[in-house]
Amino acid sequence: MSAPTPTAAPVEESAIPAFPAMRLAQPVTITILGASGDLTRRKLLPALYAMYAQGLLPKEFAIVGVARREHDDNSFRAFAEEALRAFARLPVRDEVLRSFCARLHYHRGDIEQYEAYRSLHARLFDRRLFPPHRLFYLSIRPELFSPVLGHMKAAGLVEPHDAEHWTRVVIEKPFGHDLDSARALNRDVLTHLHESQVFRIDHYLGKETVQNILSFRFANAIFEPLFNSHLVDHIQITAAETVGMESGRGAYYDASGALRDMLQNHLLQLMCLVTMEPPASLTAEALHNEKVKVLQSIRPLDEATLPAAVVRAQYRAGVQNGAAVPSYREEERIAQDSKTETYVALRLHIDNWRWAGAPIYLRTGKRLARRVTEIAVQFKKPPLQLFQLVECEGDVCDLTGASPNQLVFRIQPDEGISLQFAAKRPVMQLQVENVAMDFSYSATWRKQLPEAYERLLLDVLRGDSTLFTRSDEVEAAWRVVDPILSAWSSNPDFPLAFYAPGSWGPAEADALFTGPDQSWRNPA
Ligand code: BG6
Repeated sequence: MSAPTPTAAPVEESAIPAFPAMRLAQPVTITILGASGDLTRRKLLPALYAMYAQGLLPKEFAIVGVARREHDDNSFRAFAEEALRAFARLPVRDEVLRSFCARLHYHRGDIEQYEAYRSLHARLFDRRLFPPHRLFYLSIRPELFSPVLGHMKAAGLVEPHDAEHWTRVVIEKPFGHDLDSARALNRDVLTHLHESQVFRIDHYLGKETVQNILSFRFANAIFEPLFNSHLVDHIQITAAETVGMESGRGAYYDASGALRDMLQNHLLQLMCLVTMEPPASLTAEALHNEKVKVLQSIRPLDEATLPAAVVRAQYRAGVQNGAAVPSYREEERIAQDSKTETYVALRLHIDNWRWAGAPIYLRTGKRLARRVTEIAVQFKKPPLQLFQLVECEGDVCDLTGASPNQLVFRIQPDEGISLQFAAKRPVMQLQVENVAMDFSYSATWRKQLPEAYERLLLDVLRGDSTLFTRSDEVEAAWRVVDPILSAWSSNPDFPLAFYAPGSWGPAEADALFTGPDQSWRNPA
């Protein structure tokens, strides 16, 4: 039998065993708490639909949405249909849509009240409709994580981890708002659940290009020997967004900011993957262990080092892509004197044998020039600048055209990897310029990449926590950013820079660089 070939096109239900090896056997009920929210519409339902259309869900499954909003099964199905028509990655086929929606149910209840869980438990008792393995997705306000888990446990919705039928719980970010709260939350979560039942989500880990970082490093012999501070000058990681405050997010974002919203989780995870040691195996434990070691090796920032290593900023009003946009402080549900950062940039050092001496720069922000997430590994210059010594007579020689080699992981968009190096221009003079060896997903595979949530939900169903974060990993990441949060909250005079929408952020962030060949790559 030939290997199953993934396809981007949706398949008819009759053709569903397209992935015989991946089809999950265990019948499952997937319950989404907070089902009327934006995440459910934009991400969860489209991901579940894509999984269904590709034959990646078990034959027997049910999806139950729980929320306070007035809905019954039928109106929830209509809500789902509207969401899928707007946000599905795969083209929606009426037949597939109909049979998918037939598996959707709605349970109306106040997720803050025990009664919602008691009645849910009674309803899930009907095994003809609701298969016995249970996945709960907590798409709810973070302050509700602990009480909701308590109610679920008390209502009998949570089976022990070694029971015949499994219970798994996906917890959305933010997991805590600082180290202390993350520790307290871990404690609470682990009183109700066994670590193997907890899936703390960081959706960046579900992106194909992010998973590929480890394949690139450890499935090839030629690149890994380059990953160390003998050869690498520095690493810079950028996650730039063009969007400002998306509607309804103001209150969350203003209490959170770019450091908590993006850097503590997504950017530090990217940093771990690109800098960690080869794991002993590809088990979840082995990978988490290596990531934790990187986080533990980060030189702690303190009062003395912090001001020169951290830049925070906010976007001003201005024009972006030809349209006038308000300043952050003028956005809906943002305090008029808010000091919350919509941009943050950091310089970190990993004090281990591999990386000592090669700084790591991280930056992320809203309303920047382009939507781009990338990791650039910049190498040192050759030990001898031979080409600068060549004398040119007559014609102009451009020998300064070569800049240090860069290996760039393009996480999104235009997903791929490129290696930049200097090449002689094919002209009669000696001229050097930068060229690139380029790997592009779209040119190589000509298929749409799966959405991160598809992969992550599939892994929860398989019980594989490799692409999720372990409790000590989350705490280690908070330990890195905690001194910054304390410095900002204890020192009202900590500088807050401003930047124009559509720019690459504040000029102050350029001052983070310490080396002569270091500057932000601002990809065109
Ligand atoms: C989320 C943040 O985790 O990631 C958002 O809360 C951000 O503020 C989003 O916009 C970015 O995700 P992606 O996949 O579009 O890069």
